[in-house]
Parts: sequence; structure tokens; C-alpha cells
Amino acid sequence: MDRLVLSTARLMVREMSPSDLLPLAAILQDDGVMYAYGGAFSAAETEAWLDKQLRRYAELGFGLWAVCLNDTGEMIGQCGITMQEYNDLTVPEIGYLFARRHWHNGYAAEAAMACRCYGMANLHFNRLYSIIRITNVASQKVAFRIGMRPEGTIVRHYRGQYMRHIVFSAGID
Ligand SMILES: CC(C)(COP(=O)(O)OP(=O)(O)OC[C@H]1O[C@@H](n2cnc3c(N)ncnc32)[C@H](O)[C@@H]1OP(=O)(O)O)[C@@H](O)C(=O)NCCC(=O)NCCS
Repeated sequence: MDRLVLSTARLMVREMSPSDLLPLAAILQDDGVMYAYGGAFSAAETEAWLDKQLRRYAELGFGLWAVCLNDTGEMIGQCGITMQEYNDLTVPEIGYLFARRHWHNGYAAEAAMACRCYGMANLHFNRLYSIIRITNVASQKVAFRIGMRPEGTIVRHYRGQYMRHIVFSAGID
């Protein structure tokens, strides 16, 4: 049984395991979902992504987790916290990606809000970030919805492209 991290009214957030490769591939190998990441992943990139999350769980106790529907157990997306470079800092970032057929149901906002609370209450971070490509309006709306506000921009080099990103954050100040 994969470790349950948190649950909300409609969602269960749990650690992934190698048996999640198929539902994960359906998300990461979809160009429409992976636009902000420079396009769909290959099968090898999908496996490397899953391995990276498993390493993060082992090393830090957190990472990107599976988001599943309480009603059916279906894995519909990913949400979680990873450590990311921001200027000369390494900061905890809330990330989220969902299968296209499940968009516009409020799932990303519900999962991300729960991750924000988990990050503060359980992982004791005073501030959490979301670093979002400037053209990714949907993701920016999720960040606003969970109480984050923009504090600056950075340029990231990812998969051969330079992309401007807005840095959102929320914290206890
Ligand atoms: C970003 C993403 C996770 C949003 O998922 P979702 O479950 O559809 O989002 P929600 O239903 O929780 O919507 C949250 C808010 O975003 C808005 N929104 C969602 N999709 C939108 C879109 N395509 N365009 C504009 N607004 C959008 C909703 O209207 C809602 O706004 P509100 O707070 O004003 O009501 C989803 O589009 C996705 O997986 N995108 C691809 C991966 C990605 O870009 N991840 C983020 C990388 S930084």
C-alpha cells in the first residue's frame, strides 16, 4: 500500500510507486498537458521522472505525489512539493499537473491548497512558492486561488529552451 500523504473532500494524495507508470505516462506523454514543460515526455523521460519522485520521497520525505479520486481510486494527476532553485536560494515549490479530461473541476486548486497547508503544518516551511511560465494562465489562476501572490520573474533553461517564469509565493509573515 502506497503511503497516504493527505486527503481532501474529493481527493486522496499518496506517494507513487512503480505500478503508477501507466497512468503517469498518460499525463506526461500528452502534449496538451506538457506544454509548460516544453512538450510531451518520451517513455524514458517518464520513467526518469517517476524514479526522481521515488528518490525524493526516500531522501526528503516529500516530492510530487499521485492525486487520486476518493470515489474510484483513479489517479488523475500529480501535486506536491519539490525543492527548486530560485536566484541563490533553494525553495519549496508546490507543483501540479492533471490529466486533461479532469481539468476545470477545481481539482488542482483543491490539491494545491492541501499541499500548501501540509507544507506549512507538517514540513514546517514558512513560505511556499510556485514558479510558473509566464504564458501558463491556468496554473497562475491556481496559484492565486490558493492565496499565492507574484513576487518577481526569473528565466529558466529547461529542455533546451529559455522560458520566463513568474515566481508566486505565500507564507507566514
Ligand atoms: C494548471 C492545471 C493543473 C489546472 O488544473 P484544473 O484542475 O483544471 O484547475 P482548477 O479547476 O482547480 O481551476 C483553478 C482556477 O484556474 C482556472 N483555470 C483552469 N484552467 C484554466 C484555463 N485553461 N484557462 C484559464 N483559467 C483556467 C479556473 O477557472 C479556476 O479559476 P478561479 O479560481 O478563478 O475559479 C491544469 O490545467 C494542468 O494540468 N495544466 C498542465 C500542467 C501545468 O501547466 N502545470 C503547472 C506547471 S507550473
